[in-house]
Amino acid sequence: MAPGTEGTTLSLQVARDDLRRVRVAETSPAGPGPGEALFRVERFGVSANNVTYALLGDRLRYWDLFPAETGWGQIPVWGYLRAVASRSGEVEPGRRAFGLCPMSTRVLMRPDRGDAAGFRDASAARSAVSGVYNAYFWADGDSPGSRIGDLLVVLHPLFWLSFTLDSYLAENGRLTSGAVITSASSKAAIGLAHLLRGRGVPTVGLTSPRHVSFVKQTSEYGAVAGYDQLGAPRRAHRIPDNPDRRRRRPCPAPGDPRSAGRPAHVGACGRQHPRRRQPGSRRRGGRRRGRLVFRSAADP
Ligand SMILES: NC(=O)c1ccc[n+]([C@@H]2O[C@H](COP(=O)([O-])OP(=O)(O)OC[C@H]3O[C@@H](n4cnc5c(N)ncnc54)[C@H](OP(=O)(O)O)[C@@H]3O)[C@@H](O)[C@H]2O)c1
Repeated sequence: MAPGTEGTTLSLQVARDDLRRVRVAETSPAGPGPGEALFRVERFGVSANNVTYALLGDRLRYWDLFPAETGWGQIPVWGYLRAVASRSGEVEPGRRAFGLCPMSTRVLMRPDRGDAAGFRDASAARSAVSGVYNAYFWADGDSPGSRIGDLLVVLHPLFWLSFTLDSYLAENGRLTSGAVITSASSKAAIGLAHLLRGRGVPTVGLTSPRHVSFVKQTSEYGAVAGYDQLGAPRRAHRIPDNPDRRRRRPCPAPGDPRSAGRPAHVGACGRQHPRRRQPGSRRRGGRRRGRLVFRSAADP
């Protein structure tokens, strides 16, 4: 038996039809086969983003990343992995990488297309998953467990979203009157506020009453308010959960007189906030859903 392959692998799994049901599964995987490498999961971070992965596990194929027994799923998390045994020409034992891993002590992968930046996992189960989730970056110099290593493990994957949103708004936004960002205490939102601040765009962060003081302390937003300080949202400003099933009319374009007072760019980037029904209203769509929205208000 190759060094590093002995013993059992423990993995935290959830029931795919009820995420509150959790178990620890124990397996004794064979060592890596030709072309494969076995990695020890050194450290991973957890945030609301991983909840989205689980909620959208079927639709966006997140369950395919680390397959489990029928009915069970391994929620992907971002973290550090170290190769403990390898029969792949792309990865030498001892190397450390950063990327998606299961909540597990070890994971077997099929490294491919290795270069100076990292490699891709070419395991058959992951072939239909978006390429961004199959990429691993060398992280030999990082120190998981150090202060900076711990910050990186939670901030690194969320800053991609912050950067993408900022880049979109820089190219398409008319943000002279600023941006309103909900879930302002989230890492993704703080990253976006930081980038907008760097470009001189005024921001308002909206957050839960219990997070107001934390969000203010970040000093990333021009102003911060609790959701309880807002009036009831006008129906015309509500954001559809799923753009594919949008039933309301799209927002008028900026400059159209009908757009006065409405946000010009609205993005829903995750699914956490539970939808609240108005008293007396009928439940639509059956299942209770959540969402997390980023909202940018352009020129009125
Ligand atoms: N589309 C993409 O590519 C992409 C990429 C990365 C992240 N995301 C999404 O961006 C969102 C933020 O992720 P994050 O990791 O930055 O979040 P996070 O740091 O873990 O922050 C979570 C925040 O969400 C709000 N929230 C509302 N309901 C919640 C609930 N039931 N449980 C937990 N939090 C709840 C709270 O903010 P307030 O109190 O301020 O409301 C909370 O502080 C997630 O929905 C994630 O899926 C999307």
